[in-house]
Amino acid sequence: MSSGLPTDLPGVPWWKTAVFYQIYPRSFADGNDDGVGDLAGIAEHLDHLVDLGVDAVWLSPFYESPMRDFGYDISDHCAVDPVFGTLDDIDAVIAGLHERGLKLIVDFVPNHVSSDHPWFVEARSSVESPKRDWFIWSDPAPDGGPPTNWTASFTEGPAWELDEATGQYYLHLFLVEQPDVNWANPDLERAQHDVLRFWLDRGVDGFRIDVINAIGKDPEPRDVPESTVGVPHVVLTHHDTVHPLIRGIRETVDAAGDTMIIGEVVTGDLELQASYQGSDDGVHCAVNFASVWAPWERDAWRLLIAGTEEAYAHTGNRWPSYVLSNHDNPRHRTRYGGTEARARAAAVLLLTLRGTPFLYAGEELGLEDAVVPEDRIVDPGGRDGCRAPIPWTGESGHGWGPDPWLPFPPDADIRNVEAQSAGEATMLELYRAVLAARRASPALQAGTLELLDQHPDVVSYRRAFGDDERVVHVNFSDDAADVGGGGAVAVTSAGASSGTFDGTLPAGAAVVLRP
Ligand code: NOJ
Repeated sequence: MSSGLPTDLPGVPWWKTAVFYQIYPRSFADGNDDGVGDLAGIAEHLDHLVDLGVDAVWLSPFYESPMRDFGYDISDHCAVDPVFGTLDDIDAVIAGLHERGLKLIVDFVPNHVSSDHPWFVEARSSVESPKRDWFIWSDPAPDGGPPTNWTASFTEGPAWELDEATGQYYLHLFLVEQPDVNWANPDLERAQHDVLRFWLDRGVDGFRIDVINAIGKDPEPRDVPESTVGVPHVVLTHHDTVHPLIRGIRETVDAAGDTMIIGEVVTGDLELQASYQGSDDGVHCAVNFASVWAPWERDAWRLLIAGTEEAYAHTGNRWPSYVLSNHDNPRHRTRYGGTEARARAAAVLLLTLRGTPFLYAGEELGLEDAVVPEDRIVDPGGRDGCRAPIPWTGESGHGWGPDPWLPFPPDADIRNVEAQSAGEATMLELYRAVLAARRASPALQAGTLELLDQHPDVVSYRRAFGDDERVVHVNFSDDAADVGGGGAVAVTSAGASSGTFDGTLPAGAAVVLRP
């Protein structure tokens, strides 16, 4: 079996050089032909990841859940939902990845649970319940309404729900059926650490931590200013109380060995995002939301890269991430206008910046969002399009059972793994080529980044590690651009991985040069 681990660079931890691949289990592969992706489906397709050349997987929730938020509403943290399989099935995925030399991080959802979780069922049973304080309760405001003016995600309604039986409100930053837990309660904190240990003992290599910024709450819930009323409160919760809690999580995870945590820090503010990182007391990595939200415009990307470099340069420990697509946002190809050229250039950009890249399953096929008719929308946040099933084959079922839970993305007859593995110069071939070019270059994996000023429509940068060096040019315009210097090609967005570049970048193209 070929190893998926990145080149060992002395003193560089694995998660810095690794390329992560996000799997949303409902959408990846259908092992039992019921139209919903599952763990058996993942286990059957692990060689796709090896062929692609990624190093680690982030697996979104597969835990027991009533699925009101498709798994981000957990009713048992230590059980696999039957829709996805069994504990034996997740053990097989862990073993299969490790045999192939790939790491696995799983989702840890610490801010809330499902209202069906026994913790909440017990807590809401009485104000005297020993678990009452595991959640965030408050008496009504003097007018009988919610205690503060905070807004929930998805519904844009109040983030508090009245529990008629006990006369108090409970906090839910997401759905009413996702009550927030109270990390200020030491028993709750211990129970959450037990969850981490349960999965570490099963062999996972770390966690992607859902809305980590929200677990530290203001001990005195108070109104937000009028100007931010209506802004989902999860974006506004970056309370100082969060950092000791992250330290505790970090200690628990570090105790298991060579592990990592990436925090979903919900903000576009790069300084704030970077402030969650620390050598031994913060997250290893934070999700770079600015890269998820940036438009495909040269100046926006130059500013984003410069801002990321600045925010993450304060200490040697800070290391950025970059991500273009995930299960919560329209796919980047869709956001960027759908063109093949942009999707190709974006692949080169994402995989050559200084930081840990996160790919979202299907972007290696150039997928766009599915067009989901109104009567098939199932997600309370309307994120169905980016969660469409991955097409594996060219036939009508694309490797899935009848009636998949969502429609396939556009052009699935050519944007599928089978067709793109057989074809030439396909998007899949491009991802393989760029990942191989990255693996061959310490500069691309772990080097410094210096922004260059070559052309007003082009983002250019030099990466260097020791005496290894690469120069990258990405043309954001629909015209050719003279970047003032040619060289030997490491890889281009057209998929070439040899030859000479003459200094003129075709419209919308990208190139990586080697000395
Ligand atoms: C962020 C997750 O990525 C998203 O899918 C989920 O709905 C919310 N957190 C709530 O858990």
